[in-house]
Amino acid sequence: MAASSYFLLAVSLALIASHQAIASDPSPLQDFCVADKDSPVKVNGFVCKDPMSVNPDDFFKAARLDMPRDTMASKVGSNVTLINVMQLPGLNTLGISLARIDYAPLGENPPHTHPRARDPNGA
Ligand SMILES: *[C@@H]1O[C@H](CO)[C@@H](O)[C@H](O)[C@H]1NC(C)=O
Repeated sequence: MAASSYFLLAVSLALIASHQAIASDPSPLQDFCVADKDSPVKVNGFVCKDPMSVNPDDFFKAARLDMPRDTMASKVGSNVTLINVMQLPGLNTLGISLARIDYAPLGENPPHTHPRARDPNGA
């Protein structure tokens, strides 16, 4: 095979691979779906709150992610501050969560899993 064929093959494989790497969640069907944590309906996640009862607090959390947290009480020397749908109902269905982890010297993040993490393309 000629060198140009190998080059073409390499470029094709790179394009195929980069196509796989550009991944995102599928477009949501609604602009927002604020979690209704009081709903008796049980689904895998939270059902949407009535849009007429949504308020700004559903999208705002006065969490101080800029402030260091105490790590002295922790056996593993770290303190995790989570922001997800449990703290901020407006994040429901958006696939967004974040965490701040404060470490003491020699502190660690204990082994853990992310059971709901997945390939957004379903692969
Ligand atoms: C994390 O930090 C907060 C605020 O500093 C503190 O109240 C809490 O006890 C700490 N938790 C652990 C596990 O150290």
